[in-house]
Amino acid sequence: MMTAVEKKQRYAEVTQEIAAVIDGEDNLVARMATVSNSLHHAFEYYFWTGFYLVDPTSPDELVIGPFQGSLGCLRIPVGKGVCGTAAATRQTQIVDDVHAFAGHIACDARAQSEIVVPVMGASGDLIAVLDVDSDQKAQFDDIDREGLERIIMACFS
Ligand code: SME
Repeated sequence: MMTAVEKKQRYAEVTQEIAAVIDGEDNLVARMATVSNSLHHAFEYYFWTGFYLVDPTSPDELVIGPFQGSLGCLRIPVGKGVCGTAAATRQTQIVDDVHAFAGHIACDARAQSEIVVPVMGASGDLIAVLDVDSDQKAQFDDIDREGLERIIMACFS
């Protein structure tokens, strides 16, 4: 497991990398694809890394966006599972053991712990959530929360 110092350092590096790649690129898919790819390859404990977007034609549902990892569920109702809870509350969710989370949606049985960060657009509305799953329990802490919230804020607000 990485030390706290190593983790913070890695978040600082990946934040810079993402900023350099998306500089001048306004397209949301391009930005989300860059964030999911860079993050996924920066941390060994990341098993699934991707976005679920608020579906404009069905705003009570999240629909899958750019991601890295095994096939994910295509749609998640707002309010259901960890992603749906992050979307409904607009609060980052950290779950140490997904099997103990009531209503967890098991897209891949190997997922054990996860963090989900809400993504607000420039207008302040929820546009998506960033979902990161690990295949080991209790992998995400406040360093992940701070690192990911900072990246999301810098890329999408
Ligand atoms: N674990 C999520 C579902 C999405 S996937 O794992 C890719 C959840 O309960 O919200």
